[in-house]
Amino acid sequence: MSSSPETAAVPILNDPRHERTAARLLGLFIAAGLWFVVLPGTFLGVWNLMSIVSNRAPGAPEASWIQAHGQAQLFGWVGSFILGISIYLLPKIRQRGPVEANVGYTIWTLWTVGVFWHWWAVVTREAWRSGLVGSAAVLLLAYLLVMSALVWQPRKTEPRPVDLGSRFGMVGFSGLGVVLLANLYYSIQAAFWGSSPTYPEAGDRALVLLAVWVFVIPVALSYSTRFVHRYLLLPPLNVKAAPFIAPLFLAVAIAALAHRFAVVDVLAWGVALFAVWVMQVFRHSSRTPRLQGVSPYTPLFMRICFAWLPAGATLALLSVIFPLRVGFGGASRHAITVGFVAGLIFTVGPRLLPAFLNSRQLFSTRLMTASLLSLNIGCVLRVICESVAYSSTHDLAWRLLPVSAWIEFAAVLLFALNMAATQLKPAPIWFDPELLNINLSLFWFVNAYPGVRKLLQRAGLRRLRELREIPRDLTLAQESEREGVDAESVLAELKRHLSGMRARPA
Ligand code: HEM
Repeated sequence: MSSSPETAAVPILNDPRHERTAARLLGLFIAAGLWFVVLPGTFLGVWNLMSIVSNRAPGAPEASWIQAHGQAQLFGWVGSFILGISIYLLPKIRQRGPVEANVGYTIWTLWTVGVFWHWWAVVTREAWRSGLVGSAAVLLLAYLLVMSALVWQPRKTEPRPVDLGSRFGMVGFSGLGVVLLANLYYSIQAAFWGSSPTYPEAGDRALVLLAVWVFVIPVALSYSTRFVHRYLLLPPLNVKAAPFIAPLFLAVAIAALAHRFAVVDVLAWGVALFAVWVMQVFRHSSRTPRLQGVSPYTPLFMRICFAWLPAGATLALLSVIFPLRVGFGGASRHAITVGFVAGLIFTVGPRLLPAFLNSRQLFSTRLMTASLLSLNIGCVLRVICESVAYSSTHDLAWRLLPVSAWIEFAAVLLFALNMAATQLKPAPIWFDPELLNINLSLFWFVNAYPGVRKLLQRAGLRRLRELREIPRDLTLAQESEREGVDAESVLAELKRHLSGMRARPA
């Protein structure tokens, strides 16, 4: 043995188990979101579109199936991602302790069950009346838990955060409460007075507008101030915008709840321009953003997302000006939900999520480029064809619509595959194992890397089988001496094991 265990100074390291639990919980939200986007969301969306195309009639699919698709996408996919990321990230941003694991798992279960129960009740029509109301109540319960874990905390001495990102975030999370209350209200209407699991037309329209403009978009803008604006190294955010944020979104919410849809469309157009102005997203970056580990076109695709926002809002204005051109409404919604929202998740998700999931690396940057390219091509095709086809008999537009749907479906599959493969690969190590020595802390290694405990047991450190809580300052050298095994040969085993887990070069 080269150095004496008694003289070793072992730094007392943070407990990596908190981070692993937080990452595991985030992984669950991501997995649920991926499942919702692929099957209940996009596959059902393609199915609906095929029915529209084969009948050449926008009203051909069951209205309830269109609504089930919309809820699976907005609550199941986007909602799961937003909740998972917020539960993981907000306590860190606000420098608070992590959300308790039990609370996190309860929120995940309630949210996932709530979204799936709604979808199942609508699609199969089994016990749909209780399904609609029960699922809406469960989602509201999940929301209350989220708010009590993340927002309604006894205030310490620190002042309320006032940066633009926090303001957008507070609006978005309050908006989610309004959305879920409206969801409960319309579900009760349908369950008690309806003859099918379909929300009343105006109520459903209000709900979608609220979900998109008062929940998803403010939260997306909140995270964009951090992960798009800072990443692109843009000029400072327009802080002059701060006093207008809450009143603007409040006006959208009131107009949507009052079913003044033309007013919502005008206000939403204002929100879209406001967002671009606040974010400065079309200004030059001060330096080239870091491209390691992501698609080399990430900065371009981020800006394209922010081009979809005013484009979609302008289409909504056109639907107000030309009410007989029924395609503009759907095309506008698609430009916002797919062009902006899905585009942003496809761009920012692969950049952030691998790092949040125990410092992983994205499975493939090429898949990321391919998913973003196909999403945008499919979305351009769909928005143009829907605008034209739904209010005319234009043959080419009708024939290209299914092509757009399959291209977008392929984009979703590529994204889901990339994220799932990223998650399934074991977390890599970011240091050179050759630098390790026998004075390393067993506590940190065993808790940070799955498989290490078993490996050390096999190498002769048998006490680790019973020792649930390893003392933080216990070194490999001390434990080897206690067990009467050669610390250097245990270390050699460990190095061999960890060498196979090294992060690939960027
Ligand atoms: C391949 C991708 C997709 C296809 C083929 C698709 C298809 C459709 C279709 C056919 C409709 C009916 C209205 C219309 O004809 O425009 C619709 C509505 C809707 N879609 Fe999608 N969609 C896709 C992706 C998405 C995504 C990614 C989101 C959200 C992130 C989304 C959210 C919605 C919403 C909210 C509605 C309105 C539902 C309602 O009226 O209650 N869709 N979609």
